Amino acid sequence: MSDIAALSIQNVTRNFGGLVAVDQMSFEIQEHEVLGLIGPNGSGKTTMLNLISGLLKLSSGKVELFGKEISGRSSNRIARQGIARTFQLVRMLPSMTVMENVSAGGVFGHRRYWGDKLERRAKYMVGQVGLEGQEQMPVGALTYIDQKRVELARALMSDPQLLLLDEWLAGLNPSEMKIGISLINGLRYEGRTIVVVEHYMDAIRSLCDRCVVMNSGAKIAEGSPEDVLSDPEVVRAYLGDDDA
Ligand SMILES: Nc1ncnc2c1ncn2[C@@H]1O[C@H](COP(=O)(O)OP(=O)(O)OP(=O)(O)O)[C@@H](O)[C@H]1O
Ligand SMILES: [Mg+2]
Repeated sequence: MSDIAALSIQNVTRNFGGLVAVDQMSFEIQEHEVLGLIGPNGSGKTTMLNLISGLLKLSSGKVELFGKEISGRSSNRIARQGIARTFQLVRMLPSMTVMENVSAGGVFGHRRYWGDKLERRAKYMVGQVGLEGQEQMPVGALTYIDQKRVELARALMSDPQLLLLDEWLAGLNPSEMKIGISLINGLRYEGRTIVVVEHYMDAIRSLCDRCVVMNSGAKIAEGSPEDVLSDPEVVRAYLGDDDA
């Protein structure tokens, strides 16, 4: 293991007009770490992920992946460099099959596959997320949790160095939630490096090695899930949030 951080966020700021959505954020993620990025609604979590993955440009600051600056690069380039993500709202092609959707993740990412290798890899990933036998189903005909599985398999196709999950568990019912948590835990034990954005604190407690807490775009706490969730400032931020 190297001592270079997998991801290093340095004084990252993003303005939308007069609004500072992400305000001088700095934190690091070590390789094989699962980091929870939490905070009330509108605190800047999705914007932070968009800045990491290159969907949005930084107003100022710097992002490094294993010591190499990635900020300023296009989202395609950053995906090739090793960052994959899921979206807060599932983004898939509903009329296409499970295999087609999953395969798409192996074409543009960090490791790229084609032909037989692409098919073998997609089939393997479909099995890994528990969808064996459903390869030819159109994604639109799947249950919500199974669509989420497809999304995860697609993100993992390219064997990313860093996986960003934006409320991947949101919208699942309690029994699906257990399945979802154990799927992500499986990735954790594989040694994957993951940023988990989530509102469901039981999931944060059981999945994350460490947490960074945002409020109004800025970092207000950082530490073990247990410590940050009992931090009075964090509790205040959540209670003071009208939308939560
Ligand atoms: N493209 C945009 N243009 C203008 N304002 C934006 C844009 N994207 C986000 N914002 C604003 O930036 C702030 C942070 O939003 P963001 O979506 O990052 O929050 P979040 O922490 O992901 O919230 P949630 O938990 O509800 O998903 C909000 O005030 C939001 O309205
Ligand atoms: Mg969000």
